[in-house]
Amino acid sequence: MTPGDLDGVVAVARIAFPDHPEGRACFAERLTLAPGSCFVLEGAQGIAGYLIAYPWPLEAIPPLDTLLGGLPDKRDSWYLHDLALLPEARGGGNARAGLALLFTKLDAPIALVSVNESAAFWQAQGFEPQDSPALKAKLSSYGPDARYMVRGAPNPG
Ligand SMILES: CC(C)(COP(=O)(O)OP(=O)(O)OC[C@H]1O[C@@H](n2cnc3c(N)ncnc32)[C@H](O)[C@@H]1OP(=O)(O)O)[C@@H](O)C(=O)NCCC(=O)NCCS
Repeated sequence: MTPGDLDGVVAVARIAFPDHPEGRACFAERLTLAPGSCFVLEGAQGIAGYLIAYPWPLEAIPPLDTLLGGLPDKRDSWYLHDLALLPEARGGGNARAGLALLFTKLDAPIALVSVNESAAFWQAQGFEPQDSPALKAKLSSYGPDARYMVRGAPNPG
């Protein structure tokens, strides 16, 4: 992803996440903070999908539609903020391919909040739901089907 892709990214986000709108400045900031882990899928008509991830502590969920102001000093886990495709780009393996690219780059646990009833999709990609009482209130603001999920979580103890 580059700054020139941001209009396309915002357009995909509006379609993919109608219930969780986020401003352009949030996407721009994430790209500035973590350019090596933000990707776009180029379609024939422009940006057809995107993926945004950045370093973030486990057991914490960044606030929606809010500037982060910086990244944590500790870089031992990642937060997958968004993976979204236009409807016409779905169902052909694009999401799987994007994640495969991300997994080759990141060597640490990856966490996310699954919405849009996508938990089964994430589980097939190696993410496991984590029950965290501390996150309950924040998760509820994402809607009733929201789940906190982690791939490669450290073993307890
Ligand atoms: C979720 C999303 C990224 C999946 O994209 P996609 O292009 O359909 O995914 P792929 O074609 O790469 O599918 C990979 C596998 O996941 C499966 N899958 C896709 N969506 C699924 C879902 N919602 N639930 C369960 N499995 C799903 C596919 O059948 C495929 O299975 P296979 O490996 O057995 O063939 C896409 O539907 C999307 O952009 N949705 C809107 C945004 C969104 O909800 N993002 C995730 C929110 S956290």
